[in-house]
Amino acid sequence: MSNASSFENTHAEGGATGLESLVMGASRIRVDDKRIINCHADLNQLVPFKYQWAWQKYLHACANHWMPNEINMSADIALWKSLDGLTEDERLIIKRNLGFFATADSLVANNLVLAVYRHITNPECRQYLLRQAFEEALHTHAYQHVIESLGMDEAEVFNMYREVPAVARKAAWSLPYTQSLADPNFHTGTPENNQRLLRDLIAFYVVFEGIFFYVGFTQILSMGRRNKMTGTSEQFQYILRDESMHMNFGIDVINQIKIENPDIWTDSFKQEIIQMILDGVDLELQYAIDTMPRGILGMNAEMFKEYLHFIANRRCAQIGLTQQFPGATNPFPWMSEMMDLKKEKNFFETRVTEYQTGGTLSWDE
Ligand SMILES: [Fe+2]
Ligand SMILES: [Fe+2]
Repeated sequence: MSNASSFENTHAEGGATGLESLVMGASRIRVDDKRIINCHADLNQLVPFKYQWAWQKYLHACANHWMPNEINMSADIALWKSLDGLTEDERLIIKRNLGFFATADSLVANNLVLAVYRHITNPECRQYLLRQAFEEALHTHAYQHVIESLGMDEAEVFNMYREVPAVARKAAWSLPYTQSLADPNFHTGTPENNQRLLRDLIAFYVVFEGIFFYVGFTQILSMGRRNKMTGTSEQFQYILRDESMHMNFGIDVINQIKIENPDIWTDSFKQEIIQMILDGVDLELQYAIDTMPRGILGMNAEMFKEYLHFIANRRCAQIGLTQQFPGATNPFPWMSEMMDLKKEKNFFETRVTEYQTGGTLSWDE
């Protein structure tokens, strides 16, 4: 694809970074010159907007601002310290999820700042990326706040991604995608390298934030719906709302890159992406089994398998791929409500009561 015609291409490949020396008297920005990748228009000028969706998401994210220390953790502290308030299985779910998420959001933030940002050559998208990077910091802060409030062993929880296989596997799966871009000599601009960037975006926005977060979110939020660990659940609910916007932003970016670079969306690349999504489903199902070996809270492995198939279908459809699990349904319809709630609302006041109990508590493994 050719780049913006009115800008001299001073690079063999890749786009502008925003760090170029000033050229006095250079022409003003034309909206038609803007591109998500490989753009040479000045990146330090936010307007004129080309991608209204990116700016709208930035505004929306700012309107959803929250802080982890605003959430009352006192009921959680009392429950966590009581001898009979939680079962061992419930404690395992809380610890494993804090262990996964405490480092997961740092991985996402580092991928954004150190691998992705440099190659996204559009100021309104970068504005959202900066907001997202701050939100990832807030999420890590939230997990740290919960871990400290509950008096957990911080070293144990933060090191879990290097000690507990179920947690480690998801982090280990994602790292090669970000490492692929870490070479300072890596530039987009060839079909192969444009695909490498797109592969990283799909790995993090669609699989990591779009699949790997969902078992943990469902487990913790379901605990909140049962009036247990309500402060922790509320933290996770704010995070879920942020994450669903991160994912939707990423999907818009991915689809726009596809439109602007149709040559990279080949049949073999699509197959590769489908395989990444299927591998993500397998890893997340394994995580569900490892975090709740006996089934708990009316949830079991079969339900998570169905849920992950439902989610994978959504992710495939969102980026223009064939759904891989026709007919999969959502066993946790309340999860979609969780993403839409307003900050002022008391999330657990409207708790529904149709919990599944008894017979569904067994595992089929
Ligand atoms: Fe996050
Ligand atoms: Fe995120």
